Amino acid sequence: MMPSKKKQIIVSGIQPTGPLHIGNYAGAVQNWLALQNDPSLDCYFFIADYHSITENYEPEEKRAQIMDLALDLLACGIDPQKSTFFVQSDVAEHTELCWVFNTVTPISFLERMTQFKDKASRQEKNVNMGLFDYPVLQSADILLYKGELVPVGVDQVQHVELTRDIARFFNNKFGEYFPETKPKLTNAPKLLSLTDPLKKMSKSLGEKSYIALTDSPEVIETKLKRAVTETTGVLPPKMTMEKFTEWNVTQPEEIRRGYAGVWNLFDMLHLVGASDEVERITAAQPIKYGELKTLVAKRLGEHFAEFRKRREVLAKNPTEVRAMLDQGAEKARAVASKTMEEVRKIIGVR
Ligand code: TYM
Repeated sequence: MMPSKKKQIIVSGIQPTGPLHIGNYAGAVQNWLALQNDPSLDCYFFIADYHSITENYEPEEKRAQIMDLALDLLACGIDPQKSTFFVQSDVAEHTELCWVFNTVTPISFLERMTQFKDKASRQEKNVNMGLFDYPVLQSADILLYKGELVPVGVDQVQHVELTRDIARFFNNKFGEYFPETKPKLTNAPKLLSLTDPLKKMSKSLGEKSYIALTDSPEVIETKLKRAVTETTGVLPPKMTMEKFTEWNVTQPEEIRRGYAGVWNLFDMLHLVGASDEVERITAAQPIKYGELKTLVAKRLGEHFAEFRKRREVLAKNPTEVRAMLDQGAEKARAVASKTMEEVRKIIGVR
């Protein structure tokens, strides 16, 4: 018999900070779904609860947020039979490896992290050590399972690159052990806020700025109606998606914001497999943005109809969902404890 080829390892996580939105889906989860179906890959997907407590939060809400995110991901199609699906805090080795990585990570590398700077400016009264150390915990999340490919949105690329640096620092000091890690992006790695399309879609910008997967078709329509676009209905000439980004950075802020909003609507159509509609609409300018928004709302509502149904069913069985997470944690721990045993030996404490 031929020796079986080692499976490539995929690792990614999401913070339980509110409902899963179409940005998370476009940038990360749609890739998770595709990757878990590839038998040549070994996938680890988790709920990053320890990351989420670096932000201001209410302890009594956290447990429900974890369960809600588990429901969202399972309803999307994450299948615990195909991937190892668990909650980060159920596997203590994540924080243990983070500590070891702290000892090889230069502070100057963390000071460069744009998400840290961004978040620190948003929570000036709570710039805690965890927020600063956050990317090191993320590196531990990935390397604990020897993750090689990390399916994330574009905003997480800097953290994945840091993971590669930390693996190199560790390997240089102690000998080759951790693999090189690379990000894996979708073709919509950054959906934009509906209310300010110069920023990424994010829960932190408020409910009107994002579309949750759980939003009803009516809510989607209301949110999209208010979405920022430009006013002329005319696109810059010969504009492809790739060229758009280049063109847009050279324009005044108000123009950039408006056109970014339009491109965001196109990205949503691509997301739901309606690229033909984008072609049709761009061919018949001036574009009527009211009609475009109604169309996007309709398509998004349809695309996530099955999701909403599956989620309702799952929500009636929280005990079953908890059991799935417990089983996932057990599977993850088996790998994580082996890595940590090896790491303890490599660094000379055992
Ligand atoms: P988080 O929880 O902010 O986001 C989860 C995933 O969704 C992607 N994403 C987006 N993609 C496209 N457009 C958007 N507007 C958008 N907003 C979010 C994110 O890039 C991410 O892939 N630090 C991570 C969680 C994490 C992690 C990890 C990820 C913890 N440990 C290990 C990978 C590997 C975070 O805060 O993602």
